Order: sequence, then structure tokens, then C-alpha cells
Amino acid sequence: MFDTQAAEDFITNAQRYAKIIGEKLPAGYSVDGLISHMKANVAICRQLMTENNNFIATYLKPVFAKPENLDFEDAVKLLDFTRRLHHPFYSKESERVKLDSFLAIDLYKALIKWATKTKDTEYSIKCWFGIGDIYYLLSGSLYSPDSVNAVKKAMELVEEAGGYFMLSEKNTRLCAAACYNKLAISTFNSIESGYPEKFLAIDNALAFYNRNDVRSFDPDFPWQTWIDDVNGNINYMGIHYEFMKSIGQIAPDLGERVYSFNRSYFTPQELAQLDSEDDTICSNFIQESININESDMWIHCIQYIIPSFHSGHIDLNRYIKMLRFCFDAHVSFLKTSPDFLTEYIRFDMMMVISAILAHYTKNQDIGIHLFNYLNELPREILDALPSSKDELRTVSENTLDTSMKQAYIEALLKSTTHNHLPTYVHSMMVSHLMTCFVSWFIENKPEKLVGMCGTKDTNEVHAKRETILDETRLAGLSHDIGKIAYIQAVSVISRSLTDNEFTLIRRHPDEGEYYLNKKEFGCIPDVVRGHQKTHDGEGGYPNEFDNEKSSYKFMIDICTASDCIDAATDDIGRSYQECKTGEMVIGEIIANSPSRYSPEIAHALGDQKLCASINDILVKVRPQCYYKAYKEFTEKEGRFR
Ligand SMILES: [Fe+2]
Ligand SMILES: [Fe+2]
Repeated sequence: MFDTQAAEDFITNAQRYAKIIGEKLPAGYSVDGLISHMKANVAICRQLMTENNNFIATYLKPVFAKPENLDFEDAVKLLDFTRRLHHPFYSKESERVKLDSFLAIDLYKALIKWATKTKDTEYSIKCWFGIGDIYYLLSGSLYSPDSVNAVKKAMELVEEAGGYFMLSEKNTRLCAAACYNKLAISTFNSIESGYPEKFLAIDNALAFYNRNDVRSFDPDFPWQTWIDDVNGNINYMGIHYEFMKSIGQIAPDLGERVYSFNRSYFTPQELAQLDSEDDTICSNFIQESININESDMWIHCIQYIIPSFHSGHIDLNRYIKMLRFCFDAHVSFLKTSPDFLTEYIRFDMMMVISAILAHYTKNQDIGIHLFNYLNELPREILDALPSSKDELRTVSENTLDTSMKQAYIEALLKSTTHNHLPTYVHSMMVSHLMTCFVSWFIENKPEKLVGMCGTKDTNEVHAKRETILDETRLAGLSHDIGKIAYIQAVSVISRSLTDNEFTLIRRHPDEGEYYLNKKEFGCIPDVVRGHQKTHDGEGGYPNEFDNEKSSYKFMIDICTASDCIDAATDDIGRSYQECKTGEMVIGEIIANSPSRYSPEIAHALGDQKLCASINDILVKVRPQCYYKAYKEFTEKEGRFR
């Protein structure tokens, strides 16, 4: 039943789509040229989607519905197809392309059902490994619990089959070896597991490596690289910020183990300098270590300093002092290094260091320094730092005051929303539309905004106009911030979303709120969490959030309406739907009030002046938003290509 030619066409379509979406525009284009270029691409994308949806309906839906009906030959073809979806060039590691990771996950799951029925364990191992691999690549450096679970399932099956030895296919054995390593790494990085488990995973991987029989069985496998990777995890543990967060909860022997492991990197002379009571000697050593090109010495310093504190070898004062030396050395290094993007690991550590300093000293200056510093960095630097969001949050938890709200959110946006062009433009648009609504209400019905920014009556609303508008602007910019976790992958699929993918996207209000759940952010956390709910609270998501109870309910309603106005009218970037006019969507808002939209907003939309301003945003401001985003993207490409 599986048509190989149709599968090839699907891959070609998906590749074409991915290429169009990721196409880089030449510098020096006009706004009009840019817009017409994008519109032309939208038409091609819609056509590719239609073709691919037909393929899914004809060939894949029956598999999802009843995988057990597959015959062996089709299952083999389907596995090959699934692997290509995730890695179209899966034979060449360097050319990995995430073509359609989510469809691959769904297919792997269907194939596992087939393999369970036919009792083909090796086949199941390959599929679980595939799923683990996809989640691992999607989630970046902080491995997701999904990845850990999939790899664990693969390992359970390896055990069930009688261990690595008993697997008959070489390919499956390689999957198993990779699983051992992945399990070590992902258990290690998983937020849900404790340090003893992390060490256990590493120990198991080391024990696996130490079996000569296993190694001689597969002499072609890159065992040395593999064991270096596993060992590297012990290193990394020393700098991981969870380590710092769990102060007081770490078993002493674990802290001690990381400490001794990292101590082994230094000669006795070097240790004498690092451990020296004389600050000048210690700081000079750290400063010099960062200047040694092609050396990991500076990284080792930090990896040594952090567990030194956590295992009780140095006290808090000395710890902070030494981290400060690292921080200073890092900043001076960045000033002189022309190619610092390649040094992004150092950025990661710089942020970890700042987070610790801010955390332990409760020092606002350090937090402010970090935010300002991050704000000055180009977006692509933050993009290269998968952990930056967590580090930022750690700092914000400890040092943030109202004056830092804007710097924090802007730094956060740079490492999230700004990296995905359609989400970036959409967020700018929602921000403009919300500001337009709020300005109208300040003029015409200020009583609706009492409570915003601490206002107690309408006079205060008028007096605090600019502050209220600033908060509104930020709320619009950050409303979809939680989408970023999976949007990069979802955006390059040339088809409509499956149910699983919708489930994923539906998590975005909660994921976004995770970064913005402080009361200093005013209405923003509630807007982020509630903007996908209907006005009456009956529809939308998440179920757990009751927008009726929010003291910022009206701001949520404004975001919901603005969100809908932009999404429905965007004829440039939304390749998956036919768009509507501003007039049509305003009509829909009025028609669907008060159930879906606020009656106050529907009533306001009876004002022709407000409608004209909204239309201006849709017609004139939208191209400017695209232009702004594209310009930033193109400049980034030009600079770092
Ligand atoms: Fe949303
Ligand atoms: Fe949105």
C-alpha cells in the first residue's frame, strides 16, 4: 500500500517548503518588493501543503488508525521514510535537517505498535531511539523528559532482548550504544531527575564502556569519542545551574566527586595559584587562563570553582570573589575577541556566573549588569544559548525590581520570540493593536483600565497613560513567548497540524507564563496565560486558568481580540490559511460577543475612528513590521555567514 514515489514527492515538497521558509533575502530590497516576494511564496507554500495533506490522508492516516495492518515490507519502507523525515541526509551527520520531526514522531509511535504486535524488538528499539533523538534535537541542550523517557524505553527493550550482545542487527546495536550515552546525558540534564540518578546514569554508561567484549564486538563504533562524551558530562555537572539551585540538597559525596574530577585538570602549580589566598595571584591566573587560545583552561577554572563551594572546600565570600574574577576575565575577553560567537559556551558560563552572583549576593547591580549586557548582544548570540532563558529567570527571581521589568522582558524576547520571524512579526502586530485599543479606552472609557499599573481611579489612569501603554506594549510582545519551544520545528512542516501538534501548541500559554510569573510584571502574566481563552471562560485553553478571576480580565480580552485580528488578516506570512479583511474580522468580533469576545470591545468597534486606526495598523504598519524583522534577520545573516 505504501507508494514509494508518493513518499519521494512528499520529501521533495517538504524540502522545497523548508527552503522557501528559510530563504534569505538579498540586502537592498524595497518594502514593496519584499512584501510581493513573500506573498508569492505564500501561494507556493499553500500548494505544497495541499499536495502533502493529500499524501498524508491517502497513505499515512490508515497507518495511524490501524498500524497492525501493515505488512512487513511496508513497515520497512515506512521506517526508511520516517528516518528521512527527521534526517533527510541521515547518513551524513553534518547535514542533519529537521524536515518534519513531528510527523516522524507520530509515525515512529505507529510503527512501535506494529512492532509490538509482531514481536520485533529490534525494530521497536530503533523507533524508540528515533523518538528520543528527535526530542533531544528539538529541545536543544536542556534535554526534555520526553527524550529521556523514549531512550529509557529503548534501553528497557535492550535489556529485555538479553543486552547489547543479543541484538542481531549491527544498526540496532549502534542505537543501543547511543542510547546508553543519551540516557547518561539526558538523565543528567533532565530537570526531573536528582543528582544521584544522574551519576548512576553516567556510571552505567562507564560500566558499559568498560566491557571489552562489547567494544571488540563493534570495533567500528567510535568508542573513544563516545566515552569522552560521557566523561564530559561529569564536567558539565560542575557548571550546571541546577547544581547551584540545589544547594543544601546535594549529597556530600556527589559534590566531592565533581570537585575531585575537576581538580584533576590542574597541575599542582596551577592549583596553588587558584587556591591562593592572595587575590592578585588567583585573579591573574584566571585572567591569563582565558587568554590562552585553543585552551579550555578558563572553563576548567569555573568547573572547579563551583563544586569547590558546593562541597564545602571554600566559603561563600571566597566563592563570590572567585566568580567575580571569572566574570571580569570573561568581559575583558569578549572585548578583545572578534569571533566570539564560536565561543558561545563561554557566554553560557558568563550567564551562569552572573546568575549565581546575583542569587547569592541578592545584588541588584549584578542583575542589572547582566540584563543590560544581554540587551546589548545581537540576537543570534542569545539564540546560540539554549539555557539563557532559564538563567535569566533565575536572575529575575532574585534581583528583579520594577525598574528592571523592561530590560528583563526585552532580553527574554531576544532569546525567544525574535528568533522566529512569523512569531516576531505577529507579536509586534498584537502589540500595536493592543496599544491602539488601550489608547482608545483611556480616552473614552478609562474606568475599564482602573487597576492597571496600580491606578485607583480614572484620574490616575489618565495621569499614568504612558506607563500603562508601556506595559500594554510589552504584554503584546510577549503574549506568545511560550510558543518558541517547538515553533521552530512546527513552522517548517508543509502540511496542516496533527492532533498531537495542536496539543503541543496548546501548551504555549503555560510555558510562557513560566518566564513571566512575577507580580512586578503587572497584567503581563495573566495576558500570556489567558489570551487563548474565550471572554466567557467557556472555550479555549488552558483549562486550569480561570480568566474570570483575573484582575486583568479586560487586558486579557484586549489581547484575545488583537491576537485574532492579526492572525486572521495576515496575508503575508500565514501560509496555511486564506486571510480575511479587517472589516470581516471586526464583524466577526461583534457577532461573537459576548461569548467569545468582550462586549465592551465589540461596542468600541462601533466607533469608526477606532476601526480606521486598526485598519491603518493592518495595512500600513504590518509591512513595516515585516520589514523591521526581515532587516534584522538579513543583517544577522550577512554578519555571521
Ligand atoms: Fe497565543
Ligand atoms: Fe498570538
